[in-house]
Amino acid sequence: MTNVAMIWGVSGGIGRAVAQELQTRGWTVIGIGRQPEDVASITSHTFTADVAREYDVQTAVHAASFEVDQVDLWIYAAGDIETTAVADLKLASWQRILDANLTGPFLTTKHSLPLLAEEAHLVYLGAVSERLKLPKFAAYVAAKAGLEAFVAALQKELRGKKITLVRPGAVATPFWDKLPIRPPKDAAPPEKVAQRILAAYEEGHSGHLDLV
Ligand SMILES: NC(=O)c1ccc[n+]([C@@H]2O[C@H](COP(=O)([O-])OP(=O)(O)OC[C@H]3O[C@@H](n4cnc5c(N)ncnc54)[C@H](OP(=O)(O)O)[C@@H]3O)[C@@H](O)[C@H]2O)c1
Repeated sequence: MTNVAMIWGVSGGIGRAVAQELQTRGWTVIGIGRQPEDVASITSHTFTADVAREYDVQTAVHAASFEVDQVDLWIYAAGDIETTAVADLKLASWQRILDANLTGPFLTTKHSLPLLAEEAHLVYLGAVSERLKLPKFAAYVAAKAGLEAFVAALQKELRGKKITLVRPGAVATPFWDKLPIRPPKDAAPPEKVAQRILAAYEEGHSGHLDLV
């Protein structure tokens, strides 16, 4: 029986790179993205869900449960960002950023738990939140700081499972299209982040994994 991974946000730059690396290594990958046309070609087991819609999330996990018995490696790689000063930030934008970076991790974790192997490894894509307390980043950094707190509490509930909070530096993905600046020249390729995530899985890592 092959190892099984479940990746939320599989059509993003990092999610896609992890999916491809895992498949090269012979894993079965359940990939979940928002748009069917984005996910179709990435893995042979794909589902669509908006991570902030509980029904979508429940339906995706339910459908996945017909294709695999359990999940060994679970990865949350969705995320969203907007740089707007608080004075101009719309509630809808605040909500969208919180949905992608904090409510999504809650809903996808909650509904995936019954499908996780006893010693499953969970991986969340965070950010180096203490360095990001910059003007116009309030929604993003609040969400990522919340994610860190969520993960810390979850780890105490899920004894026996490993949880890694990956905190990348700049990674060259479409994420930067949402920012008013170009990625730095030394931005890491997403494939490198994927390899670090898989190394963390192999080492049985738990806690923060800073890639800066
Ligand atoms: N790239 C970087 O420099 C960097 C640095 C530090 C941390 N990170 C973190 O790493 C993670 C992955 O980033 P990335 O670089 O791979 O970004 P990306 O290429 O923009 O991918 C993000 C993915 O999240 C999906 N998503 C957003 N909101 C969603 C929702 N409500 N429901 C379902 N899917 C949703 C997007 O789907 P759509 O295409 O449908 O919008 C997209 O596929 C994010 O959490 C990000 O905060 C990235």
